[in-house]
Amino acid sequence: MNEMIKEAINVLKENDRGGYTVPTSRLYPFQWNWDSGFTAMGLWHFNKWRAWLEIISLLDAQWENGMIPHIVFRQSDPDYFPGPDIWHSNNEPPTSCVSQPPVLATIVWQMVEKGTPYDSRKAKEIFSRLMASHRWFMESRDPVNDGVIATVHPWETGRDNCPDWDLGLSNVEVPEELETYIRRDTTHVETEQRPTQQEYDKYMAIVHFGKKVGWDNDTIYREGPFLMADPGIQFILLRATKDLLQLAKLLKLEAEFDEIQQWINKLTQGSQWLWNDIVGGFCARDIRTGEFSDGITNASMLCFYANVGNAEQKEKMRAHCERILDKCNYGFPSWDPEHKSFDKIRYWRGPVWLVMNYMIGKGLLECGFDKLAYRIMNDTKMLVDNAGMAEYFDPMEGSPLGGRNFSWTAAIYLEMCSADVSEDTINRV
Ligand code: DGY
Repeated sequence: MNEMIKEAINVLKENDRGGYTVPTSRLYPFQWNWDSGFTAMGLWHFNKWRAWLEIISLLDAQWENGMIPHIVFRQSDPDYFPGPDIWHSNNEPPTSCVSQPPVLATIVWQMVEKGTPYDSRKAKEIFSRLMASHRWFMESRDPVNDGVIATVHPWETGRDNCPDWDLGLSNVEVPEELETYIRRDTTHVETEQRPTQQEYDKYMAIVHFGKKVGWDNDTIYREGPFLMADPGIQFILLRATKDLLQLAKLLKLEAEFDEIQQWINKLTQGSQWLWNDIVGGFCARDIRTGEFSDGITNASMLCFYANVGNAEQKEKMRAHCERILDKCNYGFPSWDPEHKSFDKIRYWRGPVWLVMNYMIGKGLLECGFDKLAYRIMNDTKMLVDNAGMAEYFDPMEGSPLGGRNFSWTAAIYLEMCSADVSEDTINRV
């Protein structure tokens, strides 16, 4: 039995706070949206009931308007900033007030597809919640209905300090009345591995604006300080919407087919707006100015996962994928190593993230680029085998970065080694 599988199961058990799982203790002491989605995928391999509970507890914090918030604060914890008193969500349990990449429908579909009749019964219970969250993205983050999903805060993309956001953040003014604050993240992780102070001030300026307008999405879209389109959210939402349709078909919910199909068509059409001819790839773009980011990221590579792009575009993305992998010892980096803004240890400006690798690998396989997919999957497994369940990894050295004993890293490892995760293994852990 692989010792690392035992360790991965242990990490998920130790991060369990009773009904929900924290990404890691101290650095992230609450429930995070897409972390919980991937964690459920890992839990499913050794405790199906607990995997469903992870999803249900996250949905318990869904807003009336359908938004699934990015953080659910079930207790206060001085180890984290900004906590519930900064966001002012005014609901129970208190939450942050932006969302995160919508991986949930895909994960639910995957659990049902691989699972038992019990799993489809569970999916039926939560289907309408998933519909509401997709409708929220389509309406609140694309009120002009052109199929381009906006993101209003880098935290919503989950790729907080990626150079993609330098563009949008350059227009964010830090207001004088912004309250002084003390960051907590840099007491847990080396400063050089986290976003800069200047970036944090801008993150807080956007929160300040949202609070001032009572988190009114319409005002935030029209007047908010930051409005960019993210290939990550766009492609993950498109993929999840396709999986939602599969789920609706399996559950025979005919009344929903048309609406979901229309979302798929819109998002497919809107995705073309992210094609940057100069770079020859899918890139982030500022919605207000139309200006493009000029780097290929691990989110750009999710075009395969969403099955977006014509044959020529796919070939260009395949070539970028190969070129970038050739520049690193471990793929896939969060920013192009040949770009001047590359930083191999700073959070989303270079390091490798397992959840992204997992989605990229899956997409490449589905689009027939098997060699590249296996290369990324092998790198992924090797990173954990050599460096453990870190939050992210150096693409050159393979060394562990950020938090340790990280839930989604453990979950992806379990998913990738799923043939080795048997009831027998679990009983022995
Ligand atoms: C953080 O606190 O670093 C998170 O990425 C915000 O969600």
